[in-house]
Amino acid sequence: MLSRESRAPAFVSTFVTILLLVQLCGCAGIELSRYYKQGIVVTAAPVATQVGEKIFAAGGNAFDVAVAVGFALAVVHPEAGNICGGGFALIRDGHSGLIEALDFRETAPAGSSEKMYLDNDDQVRPDASTTCALAAGVPGTVAGLYELWQRHGSLPWEQLVTPAAQLADTGFLVDDYLAASISGHRESLTQFESTAELFRPGGKTPSVGGRLVLSDLASTLYAIAGEGPDGFYRGTVADKIVSCMQEHGGLISHEDLEGYESVWRTPIAFRFDSLTVYSMPPPSSGGICIGQILSLLQPYDFTTMSPQSVEYIHLFAEAARLSFADRSEHLGDPDFYDVPAGLLAPHYLARRAALIDNDQATPSQQVSAGAAISSESDQTTHYSICDSAGNMVAITYTLNAAYGCKLVVQGAGFLLNNEMDDFSIKPGHPNRYGLIGGEANKIEPGKRMLSSMSPTLVLKDGQPFMVLGSPGGSKIITVVAQAIVNFTRFHLSLSETAAEARFHHQWLPDVLYLEEGRFGINTIQGLIARGHNIKERNAYSDLQAVYIAEDGLMTGASDPRGRGSVWGF
Ligand code: DON
Repeated sequence: MLSRESRAPAFVSTFVTILLLVQLCGCAGIELSRYYKQGIVVTAAPVATQVGEKIFAAGGNAFDVAVAVGFALAVVHPEAGNICGGGFALIRDGHSGLIEALDFRETAPAGSSEKMYLDNDDQVRPDASTTCALAAGVPGTVAGLYELWQRHGSLPWEQLVTPAAQLADTGFLVDDYLAASISGHRESLTQFESTAELFRPGGKTPSVGGRLVLSDLASTLYAIAGEGPDGFYRGTVADKIVSCMQEHGGLISHEDLEGYESVWRTPIAFRFDSLTVYSMPPPSSGGICIGQILSLLQPYDFTTMSPQSVEYIHLFAEAARLSFADRSEHLGDPDFYDVPAGLLAPHYLARRAALIDNDQATPSQQVSAGAAISSESDQTTHYSICDSAGNMVAITYTLNAAYGCKLVVQGAGFLLNNEMDDFSIKPGHPNRYGLIGGEANKIEPGKRMLSSMSPTLVLKDGQPFMVLGSPGGSKIITVVAQAIVNFTRFHLSLSETAAEARFHHQWLPDVLYLEEGRFGINTIQGLIARGHNIKERNAYSDLQAVYIAEDGLMTGASDPRGRGSVWGF
């Protein structure tokens, strides 16, 4: 393990000793990044990072670690880590250099229909798409992690799932983050008995330092360890999911579970300065929107700007406004809807760029009354892994809201997602992230709901450069785009990049969201003077990022807003 202050790779070995001494001396005020040679894992939960460490130590590659961490997060980061949700992986195979996207997004059950969340008067039934079993899509995580392992893993499957099963079986220590999260959601987590029993045993939030044992989840994980996806999509676990649906009015059937398949897709790739960025294609909007935003910013000279300057925030917000308008109209599951091919074409982007006024905000065309971004906390989680063979893995997966639809499958120990809310449940009706949509993202049986999740890989001269991603709903797109700009254009260190203040615009509502308490009054006034409608909102990102220097040394940073950790060797 190596340490250094800046990210100038050529000096690493020279200064290692000095910097180690500085570190040992405990000198304050210097930010030290640690650089690793063999492998690195950055996750939102330290115990999951430790599982990654164990798999690396057993000789696993980045893909093995990704699978094991995915299952471990389902135990120790239950608000977002999951086996009954879905997600995306962006990966690079170090041997072939091939970059691929794995889509294990949930699908709409066969029994779903376009108006399933509307009443007889075509009004949206409150909470129907977010709470309880009807909100759940057919889960993809187990199938996705298995597919990743089959194609790229090197250690036995069982060895990768067992650490998570053991954590659930023997219990793990509750840290202050988890205790606060459960406590913060205590009302919604007590709506259903099966959920309350698990997370609030004896009617109390587990105390910090106490041990949380999840026996039913352990049995489910042992079944998956022993039988692979069949241990989840067939047999007793599947029976329990279907019984839960019958009891609570959900739609997922045995046929839905048995028929679920993950899909390999071609990543969205675009140039930004000297870099090539790869991110998730539809059914995520992430790759296209990040590509549009960065491409629209590309021609601007940033030398007189900074991450919090009015000029930069204005230009970024205008680019995001244009991109989210496209998202709403054009993006959906490509297996069901013809997503236009030219959304990143230079001539199209040139036309869009011409709509940006460098000095004044262009008001969004339509404003939906009350279309505010939900203030309830949301959760998704991202993790980034890299090894010395050049394998890169970025995975973002989710239950959608924190703790999904809040319903634990009785006897199986895991939460159901509420991903159906990511469909456009009625044209123009905002989902929980304030996003609206229409035809492209309407509900259809078997279809995948549009996502903003953006696991992203960045390469420089064909070599690994960055692995990154974050939760945040619609804000994932702006978090990832800002992180790339902050690191590469504003030359922040990786940890500064993780910590830097966030802002967000998504076309509708026509609001420029600024992270609460992070922007000075001059910036705020400058943006108002340019015509922006400003609202401050609480912190929302949990960026997990890796940077790979030219000499192959790797460093990581976990967003200080979360409790994540970095480990490498
Ligand atoms: O797929 C999506 O875009 C959302 N379901 C992601 C949800 C999310 O990021 C919540 N976390 N903060």
